[in-house]
Amino acid sequence: MPAKAATRPAEPEPKKEIALEDLDGVGPTTAQKLRDAGFTDLMELAVASPGDVAEAAEIGTQIAQHIIASARREADVGSFESGVTVLERRKKLGRITTYAKSLDELLGGGVETQAITEFAGEFGSGKTQIAHQLAVSVQLPVDQGGLSGETVYIDTESTFRPERIVSMATAVGLDPDVALGHIHVARAFNSSHQMLLVAKAQELARVKPIRVIVVDSLTAHFRSEYAGRAELAPRQQHLNKHLHELLRFADMYNASVIVTNQVSARPDIMFGDPTRPIGGNIVAHASTYRIYLRKSKPPRRIARLIDSPNLPEGEAVFSVTPDGIRE
Ligand code: GTP
Ligand code: MG
Repeated sequence: MPAKAATRPAEPEPKKEIALEDLDGVGPTTAQKLRDAGFTDLMELAVASPGDVAEAAEIGTQIAQHIIASARREADVGSFESGVTVLERRKKLGRITTYAKSLDELLGGGVETQAITEFAGEFGSGKTQIAHQLAVSVQLPVDQGGLSGETVYIDTESTFRPERIVSMATAVGLDPDVALGHIHVARAFNSSHQMLLVAKAQELARVKPIRVIVVDSLTAHFRSEYAGRAELAPRQQHLNKHLHELLRFADMYNASVIVTNQVSARPDIMFGDPTRPIGGNIVAHASTYRIYLRKSKPPRRIARLIDSPNLPEGEAVFSVTPDGIRE
């Protein structure tokens, strides 16, 4: 044996991680399609429905079933959860106050953790102001409507204002410097960067008690980068993946995901609301709670809860005041 081999350092422990490509029936093309649709690891495949996998990878249902079975064999079965575990996790579900009682009530007691809450509305409807408010509120102790937590703030439109945080923090009795220190802001330059920042946020969440992740705006980069009709499918795929990763963050760190969304005009609508949130079904589906904001007599705003799985639809009136969001 050559001397070089003899002195070579010991091989690192074989990595246990299995790639999608290692699964029976998955080639590089299928693997890529699955990843684009948000199936980034075995667990996600193992728990997926054959229909979803078939659609994502553009394969037949039988092959999809085969791939799922293979993912189930390879996935770390220990990480399947029993109903008891799920119940335990649901018991840890936290809520964060928006500081407007009406809006909290509409949300069933504040913004929930382990969920995505989407605030959709036209310019100036208060989306960014609510995001700022939650970044402050989460820092409060539980008995004051917070989670003693910190925030990751992904800012895509350069509208994060530390001065506004100072006003809002002071108004609720927090030290403004401490409050600013608990908000970790990153400017996202494009949609890929925006997605990458979620992975970065996970690194941060391992060392800091991140309980809120804001993406303001969720859709702006996607909308401007994928402009044409032909780009609609890839845009939706990437958005879907992004939302999956955010939801995973919410589950892993018992955090609340807050996303904002602009609305676009619907020239086809003659009666009723002539606007609709960007991102179509993908965003509507992935958002656990969707709040539609509209302007009323200043400083009033009206929030409407739509498509909630477990809360009645309804409306709440709130104001954007110098101190922040209020009843
Ligand atoms: P886009 O991002 O443009 O789509 O709008 P948005 O929904 O994020 O609106 P935003 O949350 O920025 O709300 C803007 C409104 O909040 C303004 O029209 C003001 O009425 C109010 N606002 C913003 N900053 C302040 C502030 O410092 N003090 C007070 N009192 N009101 C503010
Ligand atoms: Mg805004």
